[in-house]
Order: sequence, then structure tokens, then C-alpha cells
Amino acid sequence: MNEYVLGVDLGTSAVKVSAMNRDGEIVAQQSYDYPLSQPHPGYSEQNPEEWVSGTTVAIVQLILEDHIKPEEISGISFSGQMHGLVLLDENNQVLRPAILWNDTRTSKQRAEIEDKLGDKFVEITKNQPLEGFTLPKLLWVKENEPNIWAKAKTFVLPKDYVRYRMTGQIAMDYSDATGTVLIDVKAGDWSKAICDAFDIPVSMCPPLMKSIDSAGHVSESYALFSGLDTHTEVFGGAADNAAGAVGAGILSPNMVLSSIGTSGVVLKYEEDPTVDYHGVLQFEYHAIPDSFYSMGVTLAAGYSLNWFKRTFAQDVSFNDMVASAGDSTVGANGLIYTPYIVGERAPYADADVRGSFIGVDGTHQKRDFVRAVLEGIIFSFKDIMDIYDEHDKEFDTVVAIGGGAKSPLWLQIQADIFNKKVVSLTNEQGPGMGAAMIAAVGLGWFKDFQECAEKFVHFGKEYLPNAENAKKYDQLHKIYGQVYNQTKDLSHQLLDYRRENDK
Ligand code: XUL
Repeated sequence: MNEYVLGVDLGTSAVKVSAMNRDGEIVAQQSYDYPLSQPHPGYSEQNPEEWVSGTTVAIVQLILEDHIKPEEISGISFSGQMHGLVLLDENNQVLRPAILWNDTRTSKQRAEIEDKLGDKFVEITKNQPLEGFTLPKLLWVKENEPNIWAKAKTFVLPKDYVRYRMTGQIAMDYSDATGTVLIDVKAGDWSKAICDAFDIPVSMCPPLMKSIDSAGHVSESYALFSGLDTHTEVFGGAADNAAGAVGAGILSPNMVLSSIGTSGVVLKYEEDPTVDYHGVLQFEYHAIPDSFYSMGVTLAAGYSLNWFKRTFAQDVSFNDMVASAGDSTVGANGLIYTPYIVGERAPYADADVRGSFIGVDGTHQKRDFVRAVLEGIIFSFKDIMDIYDEHDKEFDTVVAIGGGAKSPLWLQIQADIFNKKVVSLTNEQGPGMGAAMIAAVGLGWFKDFQECAEKFVHFGKEYLPNAENAKKYDQLHKIYGQVYNQTKDLSHQLLDYRRENDK
């Protein structure tokens, strides 16, 4: 009999479910899109029921269209969009739409947390209380929707809600739980000090589990609803960045991930929980038991390129636009782009900074602008790499995934700017692969993630830095590094102007 695991990748715009066999091959894949609601500037919400029905439709299609037999599905696990607040009442009914990771209505609550706990907050959680994270969202509901808050019994994150609907068990895995910024990372438990400081009953925080822990089997009611069988075991799963790292083989400290999606992530496997990035980088539990990862997020990575294409290059294909940067030069003929067009998270946690092109010259052509955008995104990643270099000179390999891994030119730009070896994957599947690997390890198909990765993860071509280009980029990155401080006040003034005049 065939045996499969399902990896559920619960994203912000869609859910993708992949069926994988014991050899790490994808045998079938189905996805389902759902809407994002942005009722006011800065708001971003989703109805959790959409996640459940989208996941279920994808599973039903795997069974009906791809003829995956329910009895062949041994395990299911998840990768989830992080930080989204799903508030539940005493009957585990959803109380309001989920407030998502990219919702920034919570600047006031962020400031309240910083004022009250200051450095102590970073000491406990190893993170800053940024707008996107869950605690500020809890406080927002508490302050703005007291009637809903009064009914709230517990809260979970997006993939936890889907797991709950599959199994009937409420739980949250450590990797996602660190993103709530309510975890005392050293203690490995919910922080009573933080809960007490903001008058949040610790009883609201759900039971914690490891990513590879079993959350039970598919319940009878979900089996009826989805066509799945009740023998299928459901595993905790992980935050999308943790699952993405597992799926990209980031399983040892010498490797760093460079991922370009809408946002961009530079992520490092960490063994030592005492390493201190002072909250400049996010620090989270990994999907791999008893290990951690740190990461810096560039909010507008792929988004920068999409914005540029949509605004200035509608008449060419995406590939042609990116390839045109090859006709420009290292440093885009003296043009620098900073990708802060929706604010930034790392290394500058500044929701109100905005992007710029510096050095615009009458001789510049469109290809120089494209090149500047490609380089600017990687310069922003380099800011994070430099922090890693300061702490640990051992890392020697960058694994590139997402948009940046699709173009040989962009891969070479990464190798030259990072001045490190950059590799791509031959079978890149994103976080869904990591989710499937979590189920495979949870089921005991492999003794650990290393053994699983030997079957599931395949590295492709290596890009080595060109010494001459690396030297030029080092010089240019030093100029790039000055742009934030020299433009942030101007950006803030312009944003204030817009806020005044958009009323
Ligand atoms: C990470 C973050 C995003 C979301 C996207 O902190 O906010 O990467 O996880 O789903």
C-alpha cells in the first residue's frame, strides 16, 4: 500500500496541501484561495472559517481528483501564517475575524508595552512587541472591543485553529507560540510576568506542544466533513518560517536562509538560546525540538519588485524585466534603492519609514532602476547577514528560496553582496514541504529531520562570490547603510502630511 503525508501550507492568500510519499516526492497538490479583508488602512483580517473550508476543499480534491486514498494518508501537519489572533469563547466559537500578521493597527498598544516593560520585555521574550505580533492584537481587542474581550476564553494562531477543527484539541506549537511574544523563551513556557502586566489571564494561553508531537487523530466529525479516515494522525506543525527553514534544509548553524516572497526573510538556525540580538532580530523556537532560529524580516522584498513592475513596467514580462537588470552594472550605475515602501521590520523596526531611490541621474534608464530594486532588497538582507557575521563567523552557506532563487542573475547578486556561497534547491516547495517533513518525522518514518532531509531536500547549483563585484558591493552597502538615518525624518514628515490630507 502507498503511504502519504499531507503538508498543509496555510498562507495569507491561499492554502496549499501537498501529498508526499516516503521518498520525499510530491505525488499531488491542491490549493484554494481565500480573501483578505482590509476594511481600514492598516487593518488586515480573515475569517477563520475560510481557512477550514479552503483546507477541506483542497483535501477533498486530493481524494477525488488525484485519487489519493484516505487509508493511504498516514499523517498531516501544518505550516501556518504567523501571529494572527483567533479569539475563541468558552465553546471554542470564533468571536471576531482573525487579526493577521500584516495588520498594523496596534502602534498604540506597542508603545504601551514598551513603556510598561521596556528592556525587560525583550529579555523575557527575546523579541520586541511589534505591531504584527499577537500580544499587541490581544490588547487592541481588550481596549477597543470590551464586549468581545469579556467573552474570550482562549486564543490560538491560524494553523492551530485548523488543527483544532480536525482533531477537537486546542493547542499551540512552540515555534508559533514564540511569535505571540507572550513566551518566556528561557523558561519555555507562557510568561506569567507579561500576562500579569497586561491583565491577561494565563488560563487564556493554550497548552503548548512540539511541532512533531501528535495532536491526536482526525475526529469522526472532520472525517465525515472531509472524506479523511480517522486513523490519520495529526501533528502540531510550525510557524511558516520554521517550516520553510526545515523544507530548505536549514538544520545546522552554518546555514542561513534567504527567502524572497512578498516579504523577505533572512533566517539562521540557532543552537544557543542565550545569543542576544537585543530584539533587533526575531528569535523563535524552531520546528526541530529544542532548537531555535532567529530572523530578520524585510517587509517589502518581492513586493518591491511587484510594485515596480505594476507601476513602471506593465508592458514587459516579469522575467524580461528582471533580465534587463543584467544590462545595467554592479551598483546600477550609481543608483540605490531602499525597500522600505511599506515600512520596515529589521534591522529598523519602523512602520513609518518609506523607501527611496538615491542618486537618480539624467542618464539612468529603466534597467538601472530594476537593478537598483534587485540590489536594494539584497542590501537590506545584508544588514541582517552583517549582524550574523558579528555573532558567528562560522556560517558559510546561504540557501536561497522564493523569487530570488528563480533568476541566475539575482542569485549571483546575492552571492556577490553577501560575499558567501549561495545555493538554490532543485525541488523547492516552500513551507508546505517542511509541514510534510514534520508529519514524516512525527510518524517515525525518519529518526530525525537530518535523516528526513536527506530524502526530501535536494540542493542545486552553487553560486560563488566574484571578488571584484563583492568589493564594489561592500562599498555600496556602506552608502546604502546611511540612507535610513538620513531619510527617516523626511519619510515621517511626508507620511504625517499624507495622513492629514487623506482625511
Ligand atoms: C513573520 C511574519 C511573516 C508571516 C507570513 O514574523 O510576520 O513572515 O509569518 O506568513
